[in-house]
Amino acid sequence: MKELFDKLTQVSRFTVLTGAGISAESGVPTFRGKEGLWKKHKPEDLATPQAFTRNPELVWEWYHYRREMAEKASPNPGHYALVELEALLANFTLITQNVDNLHVRAGSKNLLELHGNIFRARCSRDGMVFQLPSTSETLPHCPACGELLRPDIVWFGEALPEQEMKRAAAASIEADYFLVVGTSGLVYPAAGLPLLAHQNLAMIIEINPEKTPLSEFTVYCPGKASEILPLLVETVKFQLSVS
Ligand code: OAD
Repeated sequence: MKELFDKLTQVSRFTVLTGAGISAESGVPTFRGKEGLWKKHKPEDLATPQAFTRNPELVWEWYHYRREMAEKASPNPGHYALVELEALLANFTLITQNVDNLHVRAGSKNLLELHGNIFRARCSRDGMVFQLPSTSETLPHCPACGELLRPDIVWFGEALPEQEMKRAAAASIEADYFLVVGTSGLVYPAAGLPLLAHQNLAMIIEINPEKTPLSEFTVYCPGKASEILPLLVETVKFQLSVS
């Protein structure tokens, strides 16, 4: 790992993309693994605007269940290693596809949540965003106008939040180092960000117990995020001390 970072200095631009795998060791299920959520549930019944129009109770039930699971979970050494990395470097951006809030709870600051956050809801009429209390009514309504609230999550077929996506693309283009952690690399446009970084000559490092379609152009490090990320931080610390 030392050789990967031999050009790293404190001002190198470091961008990280995380997916469900980084939270797997906190007990939050992934989507496509053996026990993955999309193995047991159909996304078209739970994670599309059409599903919400058809059956808002069912969709809210699913998100209440997942919010409770995320609330019971705690950040793991992988999340904390990224907080440490951010503190070491002047130019650090963390992009996540996760909605579980664990990066926020660990203390990450420069964070772009591309797929929303399960602890927020927004008004179906005007898009106003609210924090959701941990115990929420089954079918929550907007405190301002009374309209039905929906989870503040990007569903299949919906566009990603524009500002976050623009900043994520810029951080990928400018990156000297791009770290991909715990994502299957199958869901676009997030999965296109490492490629964008690669086309702009970043060093792409991937941490995942299994290879993905991205592994074709990444430096692939097989293993768990909670084990490899702390080692990576130690290597970065060493390199910064000698650079
Ligand atoms: P996936 O479930 O598709 O992929 C999880 C990845 O994490 C897999 O490649 C696993 O091999 C890897 N993994 C498992 N345990 C790991 C560990 N301990 N350390 C590192 N990696 C590990 O999840 P995502 O790629 O995040 O969208 O899925 C992308 C999007 O698809 C999600 O954001 C979600 C889903 O539909 C929305 O909810 C909008």
